[in-house]
Formats: sequence, structure tokens, C-alpha cells
Amino acid sequence: MKNLSQWSSNIGFILASAGSAIGLGAVWKFPYMAGTYGGGAFLFIFIIFTLLVGLPLLLSEFILGRYGKTYSTNIFKKVSGKSSFNLIGWLGNLTVFVLFSFYSVIGGWIILYIIRTLLDSVGLTHSNEYGNIFNDYISNPLFALASQFAFIFITVIIVSKGVEKGIEKASKIMMPLLFLSFLIIIIRSVTLDGALEGIQYFLTPKIADLSSKGVLYALGQSFFALSLGTCGMMTYASYLDRKTNIVKSANTIVWMNIGVSIAAGLAIFPAIFAFGLEPNQGPGLLFIILPQVFDQMFLGSLFYLLFLLLFLFAAITSSISLLELNISNITKNNNDYRKKWAYIIGGLVFIFGIPSALSNGLLQNLTFGVGTFFDNMDYLVANILMPIGAFGVTIFVGHIFDKTTIMKELNMQDSKKGRLFVNTWYFLVRFVLPIIIIAVFIGQLL
Ligand code: PFF
Repeated sequence: MKNLSQWSSNIGFILASAGSAIGLGAVWKFPYMAGTYGGGAFLFIFIIFTLLVGLPLLLSEFILGRYGKTYSTNIFKKVSGKSSFNLIGWLGNLTVFVLFSFYSVIGGWIILYIIRTLLDSVGLTHSNEYGNIFNDYISNPLFALASQFAFIFITVIIVSKGVEKGIEKASKIMMPLLFLSFLIIIIRSVTLDGALEGIQYFLTPKIADLSSKGVLYALGQSFFALSLGTCGMMTYASYLDRKTNIVKSANTIVWMNIGVSIAAGLAIFPAIFAFGLEPNQGPGLLFIILPQVFDQMFLGSLFYLLFLLLFLFAAITSSISLLELNISNITKNNNDYRKKWAYIIGGLVFIFGIPSALSNGLLQNLTFGVGTFFDNMDYLVANILMPIGAFGVTIFVGHIFDKTTIMKELNMQDSKKGRLFVNTWYFLVRFVLPIIIIAVFIGQLL
């Protein structure tokens, strides 16, 4: 194989996988899911799923990826000799393709808000009709399509240049800055008059508020936010050398992801209650609430602009991993074809994403299944395709992949603590995870 990708350092791998994980899932999707499905109760069950299901799964993808060292439509056969399991890899490719097609719509919204804030800051526009502005923007077909195109285009350019350059360096600066900017927003948000109610709403789980639908969405959210069930994390781990401590890496990524999700909630919910608004506003929540928080701040539009740029960065480090997965499979990891395919796939994603981009305007009345075209794609990915992919991975790692090899890869048999960790993990992957995934699925059907 020619010209293989490889991370230049351990920290590069952690940053890239954390970058894949942390994005629209934690910052945009989590708060509106929590606002729709029970506030604190949703947060509670989301954390349980992330630790109990997400972490073991992430570790499974890392072990398999680093050991298999190949693209995801080949890895299952390479490791087990059984080619039928490569279907899991193919499914993952379909999942990220569909995911990117609507992910880019939201990515485009961030770009629109960046432009708007720039115009605002030079005094060209300013309005306090936060909800109306949002609707005007996203329902305008030209705005929606152009911004979606721009988001895909930026991703294509970065991916066409190869994973190891750029992303690693930029992440080292941007990620900590994103945390910091959240801190500033949180401080402003929780000190608003009437914020306490929002803090309580978000941090006290009232289990009675949880529906079976909420449980399904929480599981889907834990997969979505950790990029699981697509073999994307497996692909990143396949560019890894043997030295990396994958257990530590998985832990770091999971806790960072929980941290950003909680930060996003703490930034938004206190403000929602302080402004006397409703938490169940759906996908527009973040875009409608945050400008109001920044308006209450000294140098608000400057901070808002900074936040949006960091938010865009977080979304792009995730979209890179979406496209990267398709590219690594189509080129069979041969970087000579990377550029050409990055443009082709990017173009196809854009075409397939058009109905999603128009779902809030021209096509908003075209509803079926769970709602608009956009809603259906989101549902299909987070609540059906990702859980099926994740189920496939647990079955493969728990029952097909050779146990001795796994234990060697983990290399933790020397200490008592290590053995306890490994055995617990293996038991979860073998028996508990498949049952939870199926149970939540069936619970939803009933
Ligand atoms: N985890 C990303 C986010 O939360 O924004 C989305 C994602 C990226 C999902 C890559 C799946 C994936 F393979």
C-alpha cells in the first residue's frame, strides 16, 4: 500500500478523535435534545449511556482499528477471515454519507451567523427578533444552500490535503479556547436574573420526565456525540502506532465530550429560564438563545464572533472525520487518489443534502415519518444506523475477534486493577451492550 496516513504523535491522535467527537453533537444537538426530552433526566441517562455503552464501544473501535490497520470495509475480514462482517464497515460508510449531508446544513447555519455577526458589529443589521432572524435565515433557500456548500467545501479542502497536517496543530489551540469561551458564556448565563430555575432544570434529574423516546434519543445522542457505530473512530485508530495508550485516550475523549455537553447546557438553560423562554424549541435552540446572552455582555458581539468561530472549528473537525471515512475506504488508503475523491464525495454529499437544506423553507411542508426530510435523516442516522453499526461492533469484538489478541492489545494484565478493568470491559461488550442496544430499540417500537 502506498503513501499511508499516520499520526505524527499520540496527542495528535487524541486531538483528532476528540475533534471528531466534539462538534455539533455536544454543542448544538445535546442542549435541544435535553430541552425536549426532560432536562436533567436526559442529562442523567445520557451520562449513564456514555459511560456504560459509549466508552466500552469507543475502546472496542480503537482496539480493532489499531490492530487491523486498514480501512473499515476490509478490517473485519482481515481480522477474522470472515468477509460478511465487512458489512459493518459498509454500513458505516452509508451512515457517515447521510450524516454529512445534514450535518453540513447546521455547519452552514454557523457560517450564516458568523456573517450576520460581522454585519452586526459594523452596525449594518441589528434586531432583537432573535427567533424571527433565525427562521428568516434558515428558510431562505439561497442562504441555506450556499452556506451548506461552503461548509462542505471547507471540509473537502482540508481532507484533500491529508489528515495528519493542520488538524493536529489547529486543534491544540482551538479546543482549549472553545472550553474557555464556554466558561465565559456560562458565567454570564448563570448570573442573569432568574437563572437558578434553569440550572435546576438542567442539573436535577426528575426521572418521571423521561419517556421511552427520551431513552432512545439519549442512547442515539451518546453514539452521535462520540462518533460511534460508523467505524470512524476505528479508522482514526488505524493510523496509530502500537505505543499509544488507547484506554487512556478513550477515557480522555469521553470525559471531554461529557464536559462540553454539560458546558453547553449550562450556557443555555439558565438563559432560557432567565429570559422566560421555553426549552423545547428544537434545532434552533442554540441559535436563538445564545445571541441574547451575548447581547447582555460587555463587548458581546466580539465574544459572540469568537464563539462562533470556535464552534465552526469544532464542527469542521467532526465533518473532516465524516468525509475521511468515505475517502479512506474508496481510495483503500492510497493517498494518491485522496484529492480527487474528496471532491467527488463532497459533491455527492451536497446533492444528497439539498432536501435537508431546504427542509426549513421550500420543503418544510414535505413531511413524512418523524417530520421533514432533515428530521428523518437525523433520526435514521442517530437512532437506527448508528445503533445497528454499534451493535455489529460489539458482536464482532465480543464474540468473533480473538480474545487473546484483544488482551495483548490492551496490555493491562499485569496489575489487579488493570485485570479488573479489562474483564469488566469485556463482559460489557460481550453481553451487556448488545442487550441494552436491542432493549432500547424494542422499547421504542412498543
Ligand atoms: N461526533 C460528531 C458530533 O458530535 O458532532 C458527529 C460525528 C462525527 C458522528 C463522525 C459520527 C462520525 F463518524
